[in-house]
Amino acid sequence: MTFHSMWVELLRIGRSSTSGGYRRFAWTGADAECRAWFEDQARARGLTYELDRNGNQWAWLGDPAQGDAVVTGSHLDSVPDGGAFDGPLGVVSSFAAFDELRARRVEFTRPLALVNFGDEEGARFGLACVGSRLAAGELTAEQAHRLTDGDGITLPQAMERAGYDPDAIGPDPERLSRIGAFVELHVEQGRALDLTGDQVGIASAIWPHGRWRFDFRGEANHAGTTRLVDRRDPMLSYAETVLAARREARLAGAVATFGKIAVEPNGVNAIPSLVRGWLDSRAPDQTSLDTVVTGIEKAAREYAQAHGVELDVVRESFTPLIEFEHALRDELARILGKETGLTVPVLGTGAGHDAGILSATVPTAMLFVRNPTGISHSPAEYAAEDDCVAGVTALADVLEGLVRR
Ligand code: GLV
Ligand code: MN
Ligand code: MN
Repeated sequence: MTFHSMWVELLRIGRSSTSGGYRRFAWTGADAECRAWFEDQARARGLTYELDRNGNQWAWLGDPAQGDAVVTGSHLDSVPDGGAFDGPLGVVSSFAAFDELRARRVEFTRPLALVNFGDEEGARFGLACVGSRLAAGELTAEQAHRLTDGDGITLPQAMERAGYDPDAIGPDPERLSRIGAFVELHVEQGRALDLTGDQVGIASAIWPHGRWRFDFRGEANHAGTTRLVDRRDPMLSYAETVLAARREARLAGAVATFGKIAVEPNGVNAIPSLVRGWLDSRAPDQTSLDTVVTGIEKAAREYAQAHGVELDVVRESFTPLIEFEHALRDELARILGKETGLTVPVLGTGAGHDAGILSATVPTAMLFVRNPTGISHSPAEYAAEDDCVAGVTALADVLEGLVRR
């Protein structure tokens, strides 16, 4: 199967006909279809298919028990109305690169695996990289069991309904210890490669990032009869906090986004009793991130007090600065430079990835494929097929270099 034919097969799964974006949330029907596709691709190539205790899917060539495996892959789930590329590009490219290695008649001296990590985006349960976090022991089974989606369905209930065993989830050190190198290919989520005119780049680091939930609690009341001075309206302190987030982020050279909100009772003619907003903030370094989040929280408390509103702030997730291992990164640069004679750009990113989670225990690297608009987490996310195919070749070159080492 060519890159193109695999790509086209996946395009129809979980696509909203109204927005044109993808809604492939963990443990839903669309997710199941993506997983079935992965398993079919693995079996069609005669690879050994494996489902791990955390719902991550693996396709093996060679004996995993031999250890020092070279692994590549990404994820197939999406954010609400996400693009086609974030995640699937890495998975499809893994199969396409594997086909390329076979066509080149590469002799494998190390086992090779392709992987699809479950629930990378955290779109449904609020926490990103659940599959890799569980495997790495960064998220305990008890913590995962407490995760709940917007409809009150718990993660164990969702897993069970999808036919998986939630009691099995937990750390998987033995499986991770088989991996000698993990390389994740991903669409770039910025325009750095477009600006340098390169098709492919190598990741240097992932900014520290996290998610915080801000609960502003006021008093529900009639929108027509309640005098302005008598109101305890949490929407006002929330709105002021959104502006403060923008200001604090600008001052610190960081980013801060309130992209999700829940309002109760959510009636046009009622002052809200609760406004719950989720802050996503990221910065090039820990100190800047701390400054931004502390500044936003301080401002939010002042606004809440001024409007007679109560505020609770809960940190729901956090990932520290990740600096990818220099030795593996340099090896990728050497392999790719040898093929093209060019210097491959090395770039940092503000986006989170399973590669970042694994990097605590496994030598890990990432390849980025040019995104001409830089747009991501949107139906408009795009990469030209030429660039995707260049990504596949780069991944195949890297894997060939690594499996022969
Ligand atoms: C995942 O894509 C994230 O960076 O939130
Ligand atoms: Mn993403
Ligand atoms: Mn991704």
